[in-house]
Amino acid sequence: MVIEPIAGNMGLVPATKEFLQVLREETTKIGALLILDEVITGFRVGLGGAQALYGIDPDLTTLGKIIGGGFPAAAFGGKKVIMDHLAPTGNVFQAGTLSGNPVAMMAGLHALIQLEAKDFYKKLREKTHLLLDPLREALAEKGIKACIQDQGSMFTLFFGCEKVTCQEDLFSLDKDLFREFFLHLLGKGVYFSPSPYEVCFVSDAHTKENIEKTRDHALEFIKSI
Ligand SMILES: Cc1ncc(COP(=O)(O)O)c(C=O)c1O
Repeated sequence: MVIEPIAGNMGLVPATKEFLQVLREETTKIGALLILDEVITGFRVGLGGAQALYGIDPDLTTLGKIIGGGFPAAAFGGKKVIMDHLAPTGNVFQAGTLSGNPVAMMAGLHALIQLEAKDFYKKLREKTHLLLDPLREALAEKGIKACIQDQGSMFTLFFGCEKVTCQEDLFSLDKDLFREFFLHLLGKGVYFSPSPYEVCFVSDAHTKENIEKTRDHALEFIKSI
């Protein structure tokens, strides 16, 4: 079983701990592997990814994006008993032209070193709050049917939904309002994620000024609805 523990490809929809625990128990019971796709969440929601956050022990984990520090790289890893099947110790051949590319590995290594800095994730979370808290307040004040779902520095603003826990909850998504919101921001020089299903990321590279500008133009839009 392969699953994103915090879905990022339908807007941000975190799994509940109970759901992941049931998957862990059931896969163990029938002898299936539990593979966590942490391509987005790995090193983003915390150094240990979503599995550390939820306390779930997968058999394998897939990683990408942050692990390459901006360069193309991906990785998978997990329990020794499974990894030992790979060559050269095992008989499963795994290779690629760019596997272990030294430039990408160096970039990834240096990205991870930066993530280990004291309070890195705390500061990122504070920056995310700086953006999201006022937007939540403004949406509530205006009585707009919308919600902001977030985890660490990842978030999605869903117009037309009060809570999104599954695909069915997205049927009421107000795509037209999102389109207006996106175009309003773009007109002000803020390039927001261009799809109502796309998760947004606050990054260390965003300055306080970037965040405040985004917040203020988003507030302008909400107040104009
Ligand atoms: C959660 C998740 N898993 C896997 C992938 C695919 O990775 P790749 O482009 O290496 O196939 C992506 C791509 O963005 C992704 O977001």
